[in-house]
Amino acid sequence: MDNTRSYDIAWLPGDGIGPEVTREALRVLETVGSAHGFSVTATEHRIGGAALDETGGPLPGSTREACLESDAVLLGAVGGPQWNDNTGEQRPERGLLALRKALGVYANLRPVRVPEALAGASPLRPDRVGGTDILFVRELTGGIYFGTPEGRTGHGARSTMAYSEDEIERIAHVAFQRARRRGGHVTSVDKANVLEVSELWREVVTEVHDDCPDVTLRHLYVDNAAMQVVRDPRQFDVVLTGNLFGDILSDLAAALPGSLGLLPSASVGGTVGLFEPVHGSAPDIAGQDVANPTAAILSAALLLDEVGETAAADAVRHGVDATLDAGFRTADLAAADEEAASTSAFGREVATRAADSVLQNAQTP
Ligand code: IPM
Ligand code: MN
Repeated sequence: MDNTRSYDIAWLPGDGIGPEVTREALRVLETVGSAHGFSVTATEHRIGGAALDETGGPLPGSTREACLESDAVLLGAVGGPQWNDNTGEQRPERGLLALRKALGVYANLRPVRVPEALAGASPLRPDRVGGTDILFVRELTGGIYFGTPEGRTGHGARSTMAYSEDEIERIAHVAFQRARRRGGHVTSVDKANVLEVSELWREVVTEVHDDCPDVTLRHLYVDNAAMQVVRDPRQFDVVLTGNLFGDILSDLAAALPGSLGLLPSASVGGTVGLFEPVHGSAPDIAGQDVANPTAAILSAALLLDEVGETAAADAVRHGVDATLDAGFRTADLAAADEEAASTSAFGREVATRAADSVLQNAQTP
């Protein structure tokens, strides 16, 4: 086995539950790494509110540089009530947006699966939601998040939803390529009945599709898409969206498995990949060792996929499934009469099972 592989991870725990959930993700990475012949070195850096308090800005230059020099960035979450009165560049969220832009990670991948063991935890009926497997491909460095002009205008304010053909084309390519490796179907989401920028979005996506005839494409208006995600989530394979629509729809879809604490994300396409849970900083439960680390751990699996350690990535996903199958539940998913596993206990269970599965696979001829 090759023992020389090693990965430098920029670890940005951020705020609220960010530190405790990413600590478990690192534990899993280290354990699965030593079972699989690679090492992981994590170096901690500030972002968001933690960075504001320490340096006066939400993305210190030292953090940006460290991320650009790393093999991958593992991020927890940003924001919290302490900084709710902050405005503009002083908002913790600005640190995350600036980091995405600095890394050039225009493609945000958000897989939504409902594990069999958890179909009963969904707010939807298990027979509707079981087997759901959606990949959101969200454009991440353009659209209304970054459009100009932006700002106050006398007694009003404006933000601009703008996309260039190139920006649409490259994210559409990602969606079609991913669909090829999955169910072969892309649903592109827009508001082309109202917005000029969505008319362009639809045109360009249709053009890119001409080169990918093996994948099927349909277009949905965003309002209809939202309804369909709840009505019949199994109809979706890859969902291609702009920045804002993807933000909203992925939170909506995150409700399907019954907890926001389950969903990972990978932001790729730039210099270095950024991996973070879809959930926020959950300040109300921070520091209590009760948060669900699954989203952070599954984000670490996406990180392993991205650096080419796909067998280890599968082992991590197996570790999560096996831990759920064994009945471990953090507080967000535990039934009233069940004892909940702590963040760290759940992380240890996943790490052990992930490493075991790697070793078992290695022994299989
Ligand atoms: C997300 C978050 C961010 C976003 C915020 C924190 C800037 O909601 O990753 O979905 O809107 O992109
Ligand atoms: Mn969001």
